Amino acid sequence: MTAITDSAADVKAVYEQDGWYQSPHRLDDASLAKLRASVETISRQQRPEVVYEKDGSTVRALHGCHEFDEVCGRLVRLPALLGLAEELIGEPVYVYQFKVNMKQPREGAAWPWHQDYAFWSHEDGMPDDKAVNIAVFLDDTHELNGPLKVVLGSHQLGLIGEEEQENDRERSHDWRNHVSADLEYTVPDEVAEELTEKFGTALALGPSGSVCAFHPTIVHSSSNNRSDDRRAMLLVTYNAVSNAPGNPVRPEFLVSRNAVPLTPVTDNTL
Ligand code: SIN
Ligand code: MN
Repeated sequence: MTAITDSAADVKAVYEQDGWYQSPHRLDDASLAKLRASVETISRQQRPEVVYEKDGSTVRALHGCHEFDEVCGRLVRLPALLGLAEELIGEPVYVYQFKVNMKQPREGAAWPWHQDYAFWSHEDGMPDDKAVNIAVFLDDTHELNGPLKVVLGSHQLGLIGEEEQENDRERSHDWRNHVSADLEYTVPDEVAEELTEKFGTALALGPSGSVCAFHPTIVHSSSNNRSDDRRAMLLVTYNAVSNAPGNPVRPEFLVSRNAVPLTPVTDNTL
């Protein structure tokens, strides 16, 4: 990764306005190769952290890898990621959640419109939205392999449609419904379309190694992968240490219990 080139004040101002920030950093090729190798190895393992698409055989996502894989454990402490998270949150942070969404060629299924903080608040009791997602692209990401789409500035609305959703249906409180293509907490398509018209959207496009940040309450989605190119995206959710939920019940690979402030490693390579 290169050094931060945007000034801290600019970065924060963009993020506060848009809920979205595309960093000028790029993870270097050797580091990316190590990360991809870890992802390949973990994908072949039989373990609860590996989640499949509805067909039961295509790997959809890997969870909590920073806890058992050395390369992923180092990644979350790279100054360029950890420093960005601290800058945006303004407090010491820890890793709340770590996942790799694989979006396999042709088979990788969509993520419907949603806000991440709905899950963290309702399922885990996260007190406030003082967290940030930092995404690292493991593959080149283009319009056809299912890029992440965010509604710019929608984080400023807070959680949307809470009252309607309350009455809607009983929640299963089954974590499998928080990681599949049938998400439990969604923003209805018609609401997302209205917001899209009003606020505009950004697509997370770019070469592998790209880094971006998005807010816990930003409305976002991504479509099926309609191409022959994989679109693996690694997501580290950093949470303020002061904002750790008191008594979470979901598995540790979805909600880390280790709320000790992270310290950076000395350089930005893996
Ligand atoms: C995606 O991988 O495209 C969606 C990520 C997310 O909603 O967390
Ligand atoms: Mn999400």
